[in-house]
Formats: sequence, structure tokens, C-alpha cells
Amino acid sequence: MQTPKHIAIIMDGNGRWASKRGLPRSLGHIEGEKAAERIIERAHSLNIPYLTLYALSIDNLKRDKEEVDGIFNLLISIETAYLEKLQKNNIRLLILGNRDLIPRNTLFSLERVERETRLNRQMTLQIAICYDGQDEILRALKKAENHLDEIQRPSDIAKFFDNPDVPAPDLIIRSGGEKRLSGFMLFHSCYSELAFYDKLWPDWNGEMLDLALDDYSTRERKFGKAANVGNN
Ligand code: IPE
Ligand code: IPE
Ligand code: MG
Repeated sequence: MQTPKHIAIIMDGNGRWASKRGLPRSLGHIEGEKAAERIIERAHSLNIPYLTLYALSIDNLKRDKEEVDGIFNLLISIETAYLEKLQKNNIRLLILGNRDLIPRNTLFSLERVERETRLNRQMTLQIAICYDGQDEILRALKKAENHLDEIQRPSDIAKFFDNPDVPAPDLIIRSGGEKRLSGFMLFHSCYSELAFYDKLWPDWNGEMLDLALDDYSTRERKFGKAANVGNN
């Protein structure tokens, strides 16, 4: 069965999950964080080498301060409540996104987790925070300013992205029913398989990931080549 090397997930639907229950949106994000842990565990037990989770976009910073601050505080719990598990499971954490836009205390905490887990290799977990694909391309252009001779092919552009050693996602999943990328991995998604599910993110568990992987296993990836038809 074909399995993806890199799964990237747009974790959407936390706000609606909470509103449906008459709860504040921040509670939806707390439940969403638990769902993220379930998915990380399943991906790890399935030996998926790379998992990227879209936690906060740059455009999400326009939301109420209380909601955004709540998300930044939840991200600190990666260090306070989850670092030990990352070490035990040999998982490396990488931040994907614009570090200049992440509040100091959250950045300090996550950079510590990055340092502490840098040698872990069973799985790489990228957390996209203050991320926007267009912004990543803009920042790459600025980094490449004095190295333009090193860019001969489109793939060379990726050398200037946030985490150049992470391969492009094979599968991009979005929960919560919307069928769009909302700025996620715009360059890297060139040949990614896309899968959209109605289930709101806080309701996700390992079985949803299994379902997405079953779906992925039926896809024919052609990368521009002619279809593989018939029995010949
Ligand atoms: C995804 O859930 C998490 C973030 C974007 C931070 P939303 O908060 O967008 O949830 P909905 O789409 O409003 O339900
Ligand atoms: C995308 O979700 C960002 C994350 C899941 C972190 P949004 O809820 O912000 O996207 P739109 O506004 O529906 O496109
Ligand atoms: Mg949303």
C-alpha cells in the first residue's frame, strides 16, 4: 500500500465545534490541541516520517486578541506538557512560519523544544505558526537576494524556505468542510494529493487519519506523466 512520507494537515473547525455547543471559541482550540495529540500519536505509530500541522495563519492574527493569545498560550504547552513525549518518541519539532510575528514567550518556549529535539529522527513534526505560504515565498526571496546564481531550477527556490530539508507534502488534509488551502504550503503543494473532510478538527482521532491514508492509497500520482492504463 502506498503511504505518504509527508502528511500536512489544515486543522480547521475548532471555532464551529465550540459555537455549536454554546462554548467560547477558545475551548474549541483546547479540544483541537487534544485532537492534534491524537493525530501525532497515530502518525508516529504508523511510522510517518514527516507531519505538518497548520496551527495559526498570519491572517488569523486579525481575530480577537483573546482568541489569538489563547492559541499562543496553548502552543507553550508543547514545552510544558509534551516535550517529554517528543523525546520518548524520538520526534523532532520544527517551527514553520514567520518567527518575527510570534510573541517572545511562545517563540522562546518553542525554540527551546526545537533545540532539545533537534537530533530526534523517527518523525519530524512541523508546526505552522504565523504561517502564510506567500509570506514564506517573500521571505525566501529576501534570503536569496545575494544568491540568485544558485537558483537555476524552480526546486532551488525551496533551499531558501524555512525548513529546506523537509520534503514537499504528499498528502494535504483539511478538516472542517472548507475546500481551500488558505495560504498553506503554496509552493510545496504543487503535486500534493488533497483530501477534504467535513468532520470538525476537535472530533478527529486516529481512525480519521487511517481513513485519509486509505483514500490516499487509491490515488494515482502521475507528476505530469501519462496515465498508467490497462494490464500491459
Ligand atoms: C482552526 O479552527 C484553527 C485556527 C484557524 C486557529 P477555526 O478557529 O478556524 O475554526 P472555524 O473554522 O471558525 O470553525
Ligand atoms: C486556516 O483556517 C488556518 C488554520 C487552520 C490554522 P482558517 O479558518 O483561518 O481559513 P479560512 O479563513 O476559512 O480560509
Ligand atoms: Mg476556520
